[in-house]
Amino acid sequence: MALSSISSPGAELLQLHTVDAELWADAVSSSLIGLLAESPAACLCVPTGATPRPAYRRFADQGGDLSRATVFLLDEFGLAPGSISRCDEMIQRDLLELLPAAPGEFHVLDPQAADLEAECRRYEAKVRHGGLELAILGLGANGHLGLNEPGSERNSITRVVELTRETSEHSESYGSHERATWGMTMGIDTMLSAERVWLLVTGSHKAEILARMFLEPVGPELPATFLREHENVTVFADEPAAALL
Ligand code: PGA
Repeated sequence: MALSSISSPGAELLQLHTVDAELWADAVSSSLIGLLAESPAACLCVPTGATPRPAYRRFADQGGDLSRATVFLLDEFGLAPGSISRCDEMIQRDLLELLPAAPGEFHVLDPQAADLEAECRRYEAKVRHGGLELAILGLGANGHLGLNEPGSERNSITRVVELTRETSEHSESYGSHERATWGMTMGIDTMLSAERVWLLVTGSHKAEILARMFLEPVGPELPATFLREHENVTVFADEPAAALL
């Protein structure tokens, strides 16, 4: 399938940036360094997981600096504090500990909060107040964004969510022996409030879901299709992930 043959509504708005697998981390990192050069105090949301890890390492190696930026973590698993699969632990290991200086501001969701609904409202208000200049996202194998699992609505905001079995199993792959069954995540509307969105996708195991994101009808069955309703989305895909486009 050639990208030029894709005529699904909105798919033409997605800017697909395909790079060799060896150059992918550099492409993402250089773009982020470029954005921060223009806007050092940018307000960003960042994902965790296997996909962004090489880009974060490259960002650190290239002297990336978040010391004036405001950084929001995209989501969090309902796991005990200190669990190695927790998103706040992963972002420390994969990015923040590699940088010479802490971000100007760093915000996380707290799954231990006594009132989880209030915690989600607090987070949503904080994100909206900051105003995201950039939302960096990963793509779940089931088409989720953050932890917005299939069934998530376009107007969803930060909230507590149940995880699908697939996502729950995937949480274990991050190293903990404990599976998360629920989480907290920015909603689709929260992410799409960003001025621009970068979707990071690597590996042949993501090729089919990435093609479906371009082709299937926009809707909650495949939450990533909602990106087709935003006018400034760049998909950073390596060649194996883009193989079906
Ligand atoms: P991954 O996770 O980067 O570990 O593949 C992405 C996601 O599930 O959103």
